[in-house]
Amino acid sequence: MRRQTQVWYVDPVQPADASLLPAVEVLRRGGVVAFPTETVYGLGADALNPDAVARIFEAKGRPQDNPLIVHVASLDMAFGLMGDAGQRPIVERLAAAFWPGPLTLVVTRNARISDRVTAGLDTVGLRMPAHPVALRLIQLLGRPIAAPSANRSGRPSPTLAEHVLADLDGRIDGVVAGGVSSVGVESTVLDVTVSPPVLYRPGGVTPEALEAVLGGPVVIDPHVRAAKAVADAGPVRSPGMKYRHYAPSTPIVLVECPQAAPERIRQVAEELAASYGRVGLLLTDETAEYGFAFPVVRMGPRHRPERIAAGLFAALRQVDGMGFDVVVAEGIADRGVGLAVMNRLRRAASQRIE
Ligand code: TXA
Ligand code: MG
Repeated sequence: MRRQTQVWYVDPVQPADASLLPAVEVLRRGGVVAFPTETVYGLGADALNPDAVARIFEAKGRPQDNPLIVHVASLDMAFGLMGDAGQRPIVERLAAAFWPGPLTLVVTRNARISDRVTAGLDTVGLRMPAHPVALRLIQLLGRPIAAPSANRSGRPSPTLAEHVLADLDGRIDGVVAGGVSSVGVESTVLDVTVSPPVLYRPGGVTPEALEAVLGGPVVIDPHVRAAKAVADAGPVRSPGMKYRHYAPSTPIVLVECPQAAPERIRQVAEELAASYGRVGLLLTDETAEYGFAFPVVRMGPRHRPERIAAGLFAALRQVDGMGFDVVVAEGIADRGVGLAVMNRLRRAASQRIE
């Protein structure tokens, strides 16, 4: 269905209420609106309106069995959606340390949350975003907002309003344009319905930081380090892990960290050039300094994974648009935020060289 997509420009730091009201009005009527969060842009609808939520799936072309994250503006709003009061203490503790911020907590849901949101699961992912625009939208609506990343299914998540429009113009009611998403990768998804908690998706909040606050272990689901859509890591407990997200149209060959010496990358690139044609390189700043006979897109400094995360999806969109036949990407250490970077790169890659 074709619809007119409006763009509302707002101040990302101190958004005036008046500038957000048109978007709030559309949400109140059951429409779908993209908005900035600190991780990536989200595609929002009133989480308590199942018809509105259904429009998100339609606009994205999202598989019906992949649940949405529900965004809240307060701990009370989160508690109001939970089905098991016994989970409150751990939510309270993690929220005190990381909310607002890039952490989604999977909890048991109550009947206010429909099957449309959770794809029939009895749990729901909750998150309080650390972005003034996102928080104020939720407050002005006075209801939680369900929002996946605002990309077409299978595309990298958007970190700018332009990315949203490139994917969804004509398919959604509007975009609140509020600058760049600073974290750059989607939130960490942690299941706190089990003990110890299980991390389904790495993001801006690292496993190390979670363990420090919890004073105990966090289990990293085996799919987190596996390649794209995986059968070999066992049955999936978070539906998003099944899908090959972040799939650029240009094939990516990922050279994993211990092997990612400049000479190794040069060798792989030359072999691919001989058999495939035009090769592009996606490299850390340090490796890019070596000088290559192929065009290079830089990801950022190797030992600052949070900087690489911030620009990762824009870099993937960029190399994808440069007309290469194949891209060789350099891996980094999968510790800290590097775990999130490597999770996205592995799922974007069609081949891994370890
Ligand atoms: O940073 C983010 O999380 C962004 C912004 C907009 O908040 N949102 C986002 O949503 O990335 P989405 O839909 O692209 O990814 C949600 C992920 C999926 O992998 C989904 O499977 C998982 O969270 N998820 C959601 N609810 C779940 C649940 N109840 N149990 C397990 N996994 C869940
Ligand atoms: Mg997504």
